Amino acid sequence: MPNNNMPNNAVNMQRNITRLGVLISGSGSNLQAIIDNSEAGQLPAKVAVVISNKEDAYGLERAKKHGIPNIALRRKDYPDESSYNNAILKILKDHSVDLVIMAGYMRLLGKEVLDAYPNRVMNIHPALLPSFPGAHGIKDALAYGVKVTGVTVHFANEVFDEGPIILQEAVPVFEGDTEDTLAERIHAVEHVIYPHAIKLYCEGKLEIRGRKVVIKE
Ligand code: GAR
Repeated sequence: MPNNNMPNNAVNMQRNITRLGVLISGSGSNLQAIIDNSEAGQLPAKVAVVISNKEDAYGLERAKKHGIPNIALRRKDYPDESSYNNAILKILKDHSVDLVIMAGYMRLLGKEVLDAYPNRVMNIHPALLPSFPGAHGIKDALAYGVKVTGVTVHFANEVFDEGPIILQEAVPVFEGDTEDTLAERIHAVEHVIYPHAIKLYCEGKLEIRGRKVVIKE
């Protein structure tokens, strides 16, 4: 029986919403950008759950403010990596997550989750991969003396910061930049490029061919 109070397109939109499970370790400014795009109707996706490996991650507060289920899971409460990753997987499944988003999640995601979400885990990195992978992409690029660095969004695999690249955007390094000034410009780009990559996924526009991600028109 159709609900006559709800316009048809609203029903369709509800059906086409991609449910995101966002993994964080810290501030969660990328999480915030995704929530804001979603709430503004600019992203056919909603954050279904936020999981942090750190209890004091500010991103958990951001989730709370928006009424989003949020859970801290400490690695030390689990006997090994496998049981920890299975606990993450259970939460993702319990919240019917379609796409996993690593947004400053500073751990390697286990095979348990990657196998359950093939080509459905994204990561963002604050450098132009394959340059400067790891936990200090901004600091390392600055110390190396590059004139251009940037942001990469990629599908995650079992190697840190390595999977097929979805989007990249360059950010110039200026004379006299500090880690803070460069980070500010990099984060501003991240907050645009990550929601954009998620939108492309939601619209079915991303096709993985080997190491390459083709963006279909
Ligand atoms: C972001 O700059 C993200 O690119 C980086 O952590 C930061 C998290 O910020 N991720 C990595 O370095 C992964 N190798 P946020 O918590 O404010 O979104």
